[in-house]
Amino acid sequence: MAYANQEHEGLQTPQGMEEVILETVNLIKRFGGITALNKVNIKLRKGKITLLIGPNGSGKTTLVNVISGFIKPDGGKVIFKGRDITLLPPHERVKMGLVRTFQIPRPFPNLTVLENVLAAAEGNPGENPYIAGVYKGAWINYERKALEKALSILDWVGLIAKWDDKAGDLSGGQLKLLEIARAIMKGADTIIMDEPAAGVNPRLVTDLFQKIIKLAREQHVTFLIIEHRIGLVAKYMDYAYAMNMGEVIAEGKPDDVLNNPLVLESYLGG
Ligand SMILES: Nc1ncnc2c1ncn2[C@@H]1O[C@H](COP(=O)(O)OP(=O)(O)O)[C@@H](O)[C@H]1O
Ligand SMILES: [Mg+2]
Repeated sequence: MAYANQEHEGLQTPQGMEEVILETVNLIKRFGGITALNKVNIKLRKGKITLLIGPNGSGKTTLVNVISGFIKPDGGKVIFKGRDITLLPPHERVKMGLVRTFQIPRPFPNLTVLENVLAAAEGNPGENPYIAGVYKGAWINYERKALEKALSILDWVGLIAKWDDKAGDLSGGQLKLLEIARAIMKGADTIIMDEPAAGVNPRLVTDLFQKIIKLAREQHVTFLIIEHRIGLVAKYMDYAYAMNMGEVIAEGKPDDVLNNPLVLESYLGG
């Protein structure tokens, strides 16, 4: 950890000075005899894209489960927007803007891209007036604000030209963007994505990440991305954490983290 902290202090560039929107403090999680998280400290800065890497079993999924509220830690805290959310249930975190993309229901393949974004609007989907409107094809009568918001979001994620296409006709990468659009429509400003490049044609991964970067830069959306194909994505990330055996073993600029001897060794071992 001393090493990791040094790295962090060393990164006091203007970029590194962005407001910390989410922070974990000494998170501990044990499963029987296994310590899945051993005093894990990470920070997400507003409008930045943070990468989380580590070999299988290193604790990545456990960490995002604790951050999103699906499991309670045995020790430590999660602070989001200055509030201790360690014991808050997942849906309360969603209301605060912290969303893991799988918390957004799958898109309806037979609805258009725009209808899918409208259907993701806040509230219980079952009681959602937009859904009723969407099914009747009468969304245009519904609140103009929601429509304007949905169109802006589609513009931000680069799907505006596809607004009237059926969601079922989108490519893998476009579906990821639709997922992000729906999360933002639901009020997300901090988005956790598990392997966003999975199921996306490698040639189109650049395109997907360029849209994610644009959202981060222009709309100040904060991203935490777990990715295994790290060679493919590192260049798009602002900051990276590497875990091994429940601990953060390196943090800093993605290239430096990827080339850190401890990180290289962790991928060879196990
Ligand atoms: N629900 C669980 N019950 C028991 N052990 C678990 C559970 N979830 C994770 N683990 C263990 O915790 C460690 C970290 O797992 P995980 O967070 O899934 O790692 P990663 O996502 O990096 O592959 C592993 O040793 C795994 O076997
Ligand atoms: Mg995992």
